[in-house]
Amino acid sequence: MTIKNRKILIIIGGGIAAYKSLDLIRLLKKNNNDVKTILTKSGKEFVTPLSVTTLTKNKTFEDIFDKSTEAEIDHISLSRWADLIIVMPTTANFMTKLAAGKAEDLATTVILASNKNILLVPAMNVRMWIHKATQKNINILEDYGYMFLGPEKGEMACGEYGEGKMSSPRQIFTYLENYFNKRNFMKKKNLKALVTTGPTREYIDPVRYISNESSGKQGREIAEVLNRYGIKTTLISGPSNLVTHSEIKTKKIISAGEMFEEVKKTLPVDIAVCAAAVSDFKPSKINKNKLKKNLKNFNYIKFEKNRDIVEYLGKNNKHRPKIVVGFSAETENINKNSFSKLKDKNCDLIIANNVSKKDVGFNSDYNKVLIIDNNGKIKQLKKNKKSFIAKKIVDVILDKLLIDERNFN
Ligand code: C5P
Repeated sequence: MTIKNRKILIIIGGGIAAYKSLDLIRLLKKNNNDVKTILTKSGKEFVTPLSVTTLTKNKTFEDIFDKSTEAEIDHISLSRWADLIIVMPTTANFMTKLAAGKAEDLATTVILASNKNILLVPAMNVRMWIHKATQKNINILEDYGYMFLGPEKGEMACGEYGEGKMSSPRQIFTYLENYFNKRNFMKKKNLKALVTTGPTREYIDPVRYISNESSGKQGREIAEVLNRYGIKTTLISGPSNLVTHSEIKTKKIISAGEMFEEVKKTLPVDIAVCAAAVSDFKPSKINKNKLKKNLKNFNYIKFEKNRDIVEYLGKNNKHRPKIVVGFSAETENINKNSFSKLKDKNCDLIIANNVSKKDVGFNSDYNKVLIIDNNGKIKQLKKNKKSFIAKKIVDVILDKLLIDERNFN
């Protein structure tokens, strides 16, 4: 189904690919969407306000200090008006500004003030794209929840070949169709999800605790993707410094016990993804005072088992989510151990990864996983950014959910 009656704000950046924004505007208008534009100062070097206005049939916004513009529509209402904001082409310089949180002209101010999803469509020379500074900015921007499309590999305007070519207007349009259709469908079904993430801390005394290396990144990325699809998402997170989109309800907890209580409060949900590295054990008692280092205390700590949250969800008779996803962090026998977990905890999917490798998994921006389905299928995802892995995992979850329409009767 094509998109129509959407309000799209296009920020046209300063690169030779800027002219392609005119084609996207035409495609969107042909399908009865309303398009407004902001032409950046350098974007104006490549396309004129007149050609943009002729196609959008709307005023082309240019400069934040334009008094007549501010009176007519300020930067806040412009960002509230849009269903989605697209920046095309997104230049390396523009990404630097966004990563630094700058608000120095209309385009950057609208974005900083925005509560909408923002799609960045980069285009630049291949060397600029692979430069560490650009790659670092991409990590930051993905962390802030910006969506990316492209760039593609191909011949560039400068004559070089490589990754850096902007996605075509048709590819952007198809991306928008997918985005809005999935979002529409999920909204109509009023789907809810919960995601657990991060480590837990089990205190021994007021200053010492048992925990692990989990950063919470993978679960956070999954919550972001679910939210992007319009699924009402609650993220229950152990201690971490990660920020989430304001639409995601985030509940901060410390211990496994607190995580379990928050999960129960969040039910019922349609989708539960348990990405947290929950401590399996906790000290039977938290000592009121700091333990002294005498030998008597050396063998002092007694442990008891924490409640298994994903198993509680998988085997819940009253409120079992339609899809329960567990994670399996292993250092050996990954397939065998993960399949056992899938069965024992009655999960629909298990995401298995090898945590003995330093460059993926815990505390890394990258992951490499197997998606193990309870129908016996295994999908292998090669090493990639956690944001990319999250998209793939959510696609499998949604396909599985949607295939079985009985879930909704
Ligand atoms: O058995 P193991 O701890 O390796 O299983 C990992 C999976 O179980 C993860 O999805 C983790 O979030 C979940 N888990 C849980 N509650 C626990 C322990 C693990 O939800 N107490």
